[in-house]
Amino acid sequence: MAFPNKVRLVEMSPRDGLQNEPGAVIETRIKTGLVDRLADCGLNHIESASFVSPKWVPQMGDAAEVMAGINRKPGVRYSVLTPNLKGFENALAAGADEVAVFGAASESFSQKNINCSIAESLDRFLPVMEAAKKHKIPVRGYVSTVLGCPYEGEIAPEQVAIVAKALADMGCYEISLGDTIGTGTPLKAKRMLEAVAAEVPIEKLAAHFHDTYGQALANLYAVLEEGIAVIDSSVAGLGGCPYAKGASGNVATEDVLYLLNGLGIETGVDLGKLVATGGWICQQLNRHNGSKVGQALGDNCQ
Ligand code: HMG
Ligand code: MG
Repeated sequence: MAFPNKVRLVEMSPRDGLQNEPGAVIETRIKTGLVDRLADCGLNHIESASFVSPKWVPQMGDAAEVMAGINRKPGVRYSVLTPNLKGFENALAAGADEVAVFGAASESFSQKNINCSIAESLDRFLPVMEAAKKHKIPVRGYVSTVLGCPYEGEIAPEQVAIVAKALADMGCYEISLGDTIGTGTPLKAKRMLEAVAAEVPIEKLAAHFHDTYGQALANLYAVLEEGIAVIDSSVAGLGGCPYAKGASGNVATEDVLYLLNGLGIETGVDLGKLVATGGWICQQLNRHNGSKVGQALGDNCQ
């Protein structure tokens, strides 16, 4: 199959990137500054915050303040995570353009991450779907642990397909497939995608790959060949999941963009501005830049 002409990048750094940052809670102005800079790079879908329990994820405790502090740019979708109706109601009050529910292909991961079984999680998402429909808010769905689980190891592609189909059937417009701990390799990624695409049209699927084992770009190349045209990534490779030990950041947006530019695939995102944004957030957090492209081009893009 040919590569897509265009890819939509869904920027994860303000949410997936910052939720796991150790140490003190990051100041709200740094979070809003990051979101605004990302929008200025040409990214038009930014996962900006997370309306989860602050006891579970303290870094996201200021989600409402973040949403209030962003300088909204027309044409940009500012989306947030909502695990339950309480999260949805708070997200709605904060003016989120889109919400996302998040389930898993692994029972153990579901328990550790959202404190319920897969079946219970799907039940819990139903009222969120209903309320979102009423308010005309699009809902994205995540499936975590699609290429391996920190507690159970291998995950059958068919299991991923069952959960992805359940989310699509309940009304999620797009299903993002999360390699939460980055253990996937290209052939495994293709096999998993083939199983899911047999149940959910590939146009409704997105790749959300973490780079823990340095395989994310290779895995993305493999799924681009299969027709994936939506990719989740995080500037400077920020991120990780607090309930998945050893998980590192999402694949770096700069590295994905460099790959896509090389393939002649359109994204509408400015590489120079993105590299500068990656450098800026690393400086703010006093953190290593996880993007190879960011390291290579950093001094030229300040
Ligand atoms: P629970 O303790 O079972 O919830 O947590 P509960 O309903 O029993 O409520 C307990 C307390 O939490 C109550 O407060 C609720 O009001 C409060 P109390 O009466 O004790 O004061 N509460 C909330 N507060 C604010 N916002 C809410 C909310 N819900 C309940 N929405 C729950 C269940 C789902 C809430 C919890 O487990 C949770 O917040 N988990 C989130 C974990 C998380 O955010 N993980 C990271 C994101 S997922 C990820 O990174 C993977 C992804 O990137 C894809 C991939 O890489 O694979 C998406
Ligand atoms: Mg993730």
